Amino acid sequence: MQKSIDHTIMAIETSCDDTSIAILRNGVVISQITHSQIENHNKFGGVIPELAARLHSKNIFKLINLAIEDSAINLKNLNAIVVTEGPGLVNTLQVGFLVAKSLAYALKIKCYKVNHLIGHAFSPFINESIQKIPLKSIVLIVSGGHTILAIKKNYNFIIIGTTRDDSIGEVYDKVARMLGLNYPGGPIIDKIAYENSNRNFLNAPITNLEKFDFSYSGLKSWVLNHKNENKEELLSSFQNVAIEQLIIKIKKAMKDYDLKYLIIGGGVSANRYLRQKIRDIKDIYSFIPKKIYSTDNAAMIGNVYFKSKRNIREVKISDDVKPNLLMET
Ligand code: KG4
Ligand code: ZN
Repeated sequence: MQKSIDHTIMAIETSCDDTSIAILRNGVVISQITHSQIENHNKFGGVIPELAARLHSKNIFKLINLAIEDSAINLKNLNAIVVTEGPGLVNTLQVGFLVAKSLAYALKIKCYKVNHLIGHAFSPFINESIQKIPLKSIVLIVSGGHTILAIKKNYNFIIIGTTRDDSIGEVYDKVARMLGLNYPGGPIIDKIAYENSNRNFLNAPITNLEKFDFSYSGLKSWVLNHKNENKEELLSSFQNVAIEQLIIKIKKAMKDYDLKYLIIGGGVSANRYLRQKIRDIKDIYSFIPKKIYSTDNAAMIGNVYFKSKRNIREVKISDDVKPNLLMET
């Protein structure tokens, strides 16, 4: 009988408020089951870590079973388990990490850990050929926890700019909360701004720090000071300049580092206006994740196993999560 060369893995992601399990075979996602806890955190206006961890514990085995069923495999078919090491919330990361370690131990297969931010950085290439990944490019990660501009050289990431205060996703969420909108604010503001042509009606100020750092606290205060203006115009103006700040830095990085490739990832990369503005930049080749792979998902963690062996590490039984892991490798 011919030996099967199939390579099947399970990926687990629990860094924040999504419990996500994916099964990938030979680099292709054959199943992904994600349970969002948004409804549970909504009434608090943000994620409550303790509650998030409890919900991950409650749901994770059910989701693993669903993913196994959905992909029509048997646990015994798995060759490895890949899990998020960090960054993220310590007690939510630990749920996924402990389950991954124990399952791998019981199945006598290897367990590997992946940096969540590097998962986002390779997310546009999920289900794509490894040949598509540019060797040298600008990388922009925009999420609830991070705003990072980096240069990717082969498999290394060198950070050139980060936010000095709030991350962009955090600002979307805080601005929404200020105006009485639900959590997460990003998709809601995206829609309202889109319906208002994303115009800067109220002349919101554009922040443009020297070099490549970002700042969103000034814009957040500006929104607070204009709380009584027309809500649609206010949110459209907010989004216009929040995104413009990113575009200015992308263009500067292209010029200063003489690069023409851009990879983006993270929850805010689902934003319609950002996607449109990136496509409008002249002479850029951009790699943007599908919307389902923009926000947190397990497929992006499993994808690193197939796309960049240098960015996975074997988990030892004594290893713990790293909530403050940086992107640089
Ligand atoms: O990557 P992600 O799912 O989680 C973290 O790693 O933080 O990002 C979540 C963030 C939230 O702040 C959410 O408001 C934002 O992504 N987000 C968006 C959109 N969809 C999600 N922000 C702007 N426009 C969107 N369409
Ligand atoms: Zn994320």
